[in-house]
Amino acid sequence: MGNIKMKGPRTVDWTDPDNVVLLLTKDENWLAVYFGKTYNEIKATKKRIITKIKNGKLKMEKEPGKPLYSEEQLGELAKFLEDKGIPLDQIGKINSIRRGTYETVTKDADGEAVTHTLNVTNVSYTPREDLTALDQDFISQAAPTIVRPSRRKLPQRDFRRTVAFSDPQIAHRQVGEEFVEIHDERAMRVARLMCHDLQPEVIVNCGDTVDLPQLGKYDPDSNHFLRTLQKSFDRAHSFYAELRADNPQAEIHEVDSNHNVRLGKFVLRHAMALYGLKQAGTPPESWPILTYPFLANLDAVDVQWHGGYGAARFHLPTFAGEGPGIDFIHGDKVRSNGSTADLLSKNYPYSNVVAGHGHKAQTHARTTPDGLYLTAVQMGALCKTTGEVPGYGTAVDDRGNPVHKQQDWQQSILVIEDYGNGHYNFDHVYIVDGKAYYRGKEYDGNT
Ligand SMILES: [Fe+2]
Ligand SMILES: [Fe+2]
Repeated sequence: MGNIKMKGPRTVDWTDPDNVVLLLTKDENWLAVYFGKTYNEIKATKKRIITKIKNGKLKMEKEPGKPLYSEEQLGELAKFLEDKGIPLDQIGKINSIRRGTYETVTKDADGEAVTHTLNVTNVSYTPREDLTALDQDFISQAAPTIVRPSRRKLPQRDFRRTVAFSDPQIAHRQVGEEFVEIHDERAMRVARLMCHDLQPEVIVNCGDTVDLPQLGKYDPDSNHFLRTLQKSFDRAHSFYAELRADNPQAEIHEVDSNHNVRLGKFVLRHAMALYGLKQAGTPPESWPILTYPFLANLDAVDVQWHGGYGAARFHLPTFAGEGPGIDFIHGDKVRSNGSTADLLSKNYPYSNVVAGHGHKAQTHARTTPDGLYLTAVQMGALCKTTGEVPGYGTAVDDRGNPVHKQQDWQQSILVIEDYGNGHYNFDHVYIVDGKAYYRGKEYDGNT
C-alpha cells in the first residue's frame, strides 16, 4: 500500500488506475493522509478527476480481475504486522494504513535543540471476533465498492437520452438459513444491461430504493428482516457502483421517496437525540450518519441525491434550450380506480413529469393551448411483484414463506429521448420473467 505512483515530490500520478480507484472509493480524510494532501485538495482533485472521466479525457486502463494491491505490497504489510506482534489470524479487517514522516525536537546534554526525523506507520484494524459482532449487531455505512470505470465514450448525438427506473424496494427476508430478496435482481440487471447498452447521458432513479420494512410503522409480517438491514444499504451502493462503472460519464440522480424516509422518521420517533448527528471532523456538507445518502454511501459512486420526500424533485431542463423539461419525483398518490398518470398530468400542467411509487406503468398526454405536448408518466417497479414485498394483501405462511400472490403491478424501465425542440419520446420497456425487449434487442436479466 505504500507504493503510491508519484510524478514529483508532491504530485500524485492521476493517470495511474490504482490511484484513481482509491480516490473514487475511499473516504476523503483517509485519502488526505494517504496522499499527503489537505482535505480540500483531495475534494478538489476528486471533482476534477470525475469531470475528466465524464468528459472522456481520462481513460482507465486496468487488467480485468487484477487485485488492487500486489503480493509484494501485501507481503510488506504482513511483515509489518508480524514485527509489531500482531498475529495475522486475529485480524478481521484492515481499516486504514497511514504512513508519514514527522519531525520532533529534543534537547541534548548541553541543552541544544536536536531535530529527529521519524518514519511512522499506523495501521488501524478490527480484530476478527469484533468484526463478527459488528456484522451481526450494527448498521454501518456501505463499504465503498471498487469502481473500475469502463472506457466507453458517450456517443455523439443530436438528442439526449435518459434512462429512468424506480422502486427496487431492496430488502432481504431471512427465512431459516436462506435469504429471499423482495427486490428483483433480474429486473435490476435488466436496468443495468439497458444502461450499459443505451449509454444514456442521464440516469434517474425515482426512489423507494430500499424498502426498510424494519423501520416502518406497520405491524411486521414476520421476523425476517430483523438482521438484514445492512444488506439493503450494501446492495443499494453496489447497484450504483455497477451503473457508475458501466456509465462513467453519465449523471446519476435519485429523488427521495416514502420508503427511504422511513429511516429519518424512525430516528425522530425513537432516538431524536441522534437526528442529524455527524462524524466529528467532517466538513459541513457531509451527510449526517443516520441518513440514506450516508449509509448507502452515494458520494463514493457520484450519485446526486435530491432529498426531502414530498417536495423532492429533480428538474432536468431540456437538451437544447427549448421545451418544458422534465420533473422527476417519487410520487405520493395512487389512483386505484383510474389512471395515476392522469392525476399527475393535472398536477403538473406546465412540464413533463415522471414518477414512481405506483408500481404500474402508465402514461397520460396533454396538449397545452399553445400546442405543446406534455407527458405524465408513472413507471413500473424493479421489485418482485408476486407477494414478497410486505404490504396490504400480502402474507407469510406458517412455515415462514411469503405466499405467492400476483400483484397488479408491472416491472419496467423508462427510456426518454429529448430532441431539444419540445419533442420528447417516453418509452415504457416492460420486464417479464427477468427479460426485456427494446428496438429488437433482448436484455436478459437471468444471465
Ligand atoms: Fe414503491
Ligand atoms: Fe413509494
